[in-house]
Amino acid sequence: MRTPLVAGNWKMNKTVAEARELVAGMGQNLKRIQGVEKVLCPPFMSLVAVANLLGGTDIGLGAQNMHWEDKGAFTGEVSPVMVKEFCQYVILGHSERRTYFGETDETVNRKVLAAQRHGLTPIVCIGETLAQYESGQTADVVRRQTLEGLKGVDAAFAPRLVIAYEPVWAIGTGKASSGENAEFVHRDVIRPALRELFGEETAQSIRILYGGSVTAANAPEFFAQPNIDGALVGGASLKAEEFVAIVQAAVK
Ligand code: 13P
Repeated sequence: MRTPLVAGNWKMNKTVAEARELVAGMGQNLKRIQGVEKVLCPPFMSLVAVANLLGGTDIGLGAQNMHWEDKGAFTGEVSPVMVKEFCQYVILGHSERRTYFGETDETVNRKVLAAQRHGLTPIVCIGETLAQYESGQTADVVRRQTLEGLKGVDAAFAPRLVIAYEPVWAIGTGKASSGENAEFVHRDVIRPALRELFGEETAQSIRILYGGSVTAANAPEFFAQPNIDGALVGGASLKAEEFVAIVQAAVK
């Protein structure tokens, strides 16, 4: 009942010319895949170019971040109104933003509410650090990030939310979580927190993605889990064939 979603987070990679080349490389093969929501998240500089290439296809476009205010004196920031001109999705609260750019549950929450205001689908990232994982704090941290990040979201908008569970220790390390461990966090920590916020029916309708060293080789292990509804892919989304193979693996 939940359509799988696979999003490629290109992070700070690819010039506009390289972005065009990567999208062209995915081309028809990506367009052909049905039954999976497909999303590309290039850097801001390439959004316009990629939007032009994706026009008329069923491939969605997402930004990797945005500010919560609509406009004003916020040098260097990009507003939801601007994102909305080209994108349907926006990644919020990625662990790299939390670690390097001081994002907190509170700023993530402001951005989630801004996405709601503008009808953008937020892909809200949560996940524990290695130290938190090793000291058994995963459930506490992930639960808090879910409850705080989604505070004030309307019941009517909630089904549009997408959560990405990305254990920080699995990001860019080549050491992915096991499917079983990710399923545990999705089923026993995140979905119950969503249930607390929005009730059972809505909680069951919200997609929870896994992210962290997803490859074409390990993707089937994640997608076989009943509470893993897709993936947020970093490094492997920069390789056309590999990304297409991951999307293909998500077809039910
Ligand atoms: P990697 O797939 O490179 O580990 O990155 C995951 C990620 O952070 C996606 O947002």
